[in-house]
Amino acid sequence: MARDVWHSRLGFIMAAVGSAVGLGNLWRFPWMTSENGGAAFLLVYLGVVLCVGVPGLLAEFVIGRRSRRSPVGAFSSLSDSTLWRVFGHLSVVIAVVLLSFYSVVGGWILRYFGASLTGAYFSNPGQYFATVSYGLDAVGFHLLFLAITGLIVVRGIKRGIENATKLMMPAVVVLLVVLAAWASTLDGAGAGLAFYLSPDVELLEADLLGILPAAAGQALFTLSLGSGTMITYASYLDEERSLAADGAAIAVLNTCIGVLAGLVVFPLLFALVGDAGTGGPGALFVGLANAFVAVPYGRAVGAVFFAVVSLAAISSSISMLELPVSFLVDEYGVSRRRATALFVGVFTVTGSATAFSPGLFDFVAGTLVDLLMTAGLIGFLLFTGWVVGQNAVTEYELGAGAVASALSTPWLYAVGVVIPVFLIFTLVSGIAAALGVSITAVELWGVTISQPRLFAGLSVVIAVVSFLGLRRPASVA
Ligand code: PHE
Repeated sequence: MARDVWHSRLGFIMAAVGSAVGLGNLWRFPWMTSENGGAAFLLVYLGVVLCVGVPGLLAEFVIGRRSRRSPVGAFSSLSDSTLWRVFGHLSVVIAVVLLSFYSVVGGWILRYFGASLTGAYFSNPGQYFATVSYGLDAVGFHLLFLAITGLIVVRGIKRGIENATKLMMPAVVVLLVVLAAWASTLDGAGAGLAFYLSPDVELLEADLLGILPAAAGQALFTLSLGSGTMITYASYLDEERSLAADGAAIAVLNTCIGVLAGLVVFPLLFALVGDAGTGGPGALFVGLANAFVAVPYGRAVGAVFFAVVSLAAISSSISMLELPVSFLVDEYGVSRRRATALFVGVFTVTGSATAFSPGLFDFVAGTLVDLLMTAGLIGFLLFTGWVVGQNAVTEYELGAGAVASALSTPWLYAVGVVIPVFLIFTLVSGIAAALGVSITAVELWGVTISQPRLFAGLSVVIAVVSFLGLRRPASVA
């Protein structure tokens, strides 16, 4: 059977924006921002989106369109080395990890949509979240969210994903603009805007190593990078349009929607709750629920808000499910229906595990996802730069305009060398932070080397070793 393709360019862009815009923008971003210093975090995050996100997105697009296969097949068809296939399999693992917690949060959102209409959380938002967030309640709604995701994915690329996201994305934008305009009129919204928009430079300097891995992880998360979902989506492209133009459009739209989400969330929290919330994964739920209790027509506003978040979450979760499904379809010739059913079964189990255990949930949704996506992207970038190499430039240039073409070689250097070094740096700092290892300044031959320098040096060494080790297998594309 012929492989599915997108019906139109707009369809591809909407689906990719749909994947990018999601709980990452609306739930994880406020959580990470309030935990990592507000505007200082925003600044680092935007820098990473621009300098790492866009070139990284292009690398995933190049791998996908060049191979027309989902990640596992892409790596084996573009290189004759089995070593690289590890990254293909890693992407399936990452997608499984992602959806295992994502559909639990998706379930919370669906529940809050209903609970806003009925006013169920209005008497005590904090207690409400505590009773519904984990346990059997959470499992039920997680399954509902998973079922909706499965029903879209089983219909395939054009009829399922493209049609669904083309409706969902414009709806998300319109509703968010309305909510942001309204939130800015609230008394006290200014304090929220200040927290969100004016960076504390001292904090930035003092805690850059703490902020960086979280900001980088969040930037990758929000652009759906490092898990191979963008490789998968680009593999359904059959037209030779400019990948650079599409990538830029997707990154800009995602960033605007993310910033817009902040313009809804922070003014609302500061105006009605008084601060950025309690932190943790419940920040959005408890904080905003408190806000909806306090505003006029709170039920309606709450329902609209959670409807937006539900749409955004579903358009992302379908990309997470599409990846493993396409793996079975491409590599083993399994029917889409069976592959979807099988993975929905897998997620029923793995999602239920996170729905039962707050500790596991926190670890998976925060640290584990950050580290895995960073590692995944490092692999994709090195592969693009060192194995696909010149063919990557050719693929990138297909359909590209003059400006994008002029940037093709610098782009290859960036994805082959500079960005991997940076990502290895964040990965090393992230692992050190996760293990609770704090490395104080080291004295070497009478010179004091500070922690950031030490990590930077280590990153260069690891990068050089991986170039030498991974460069060998020739590209067969
Ligand atoms: N980008 C999505 C969001 O912001 C999450 C996601 C990550 C989707 C990785 C697919 C792959 O919610």
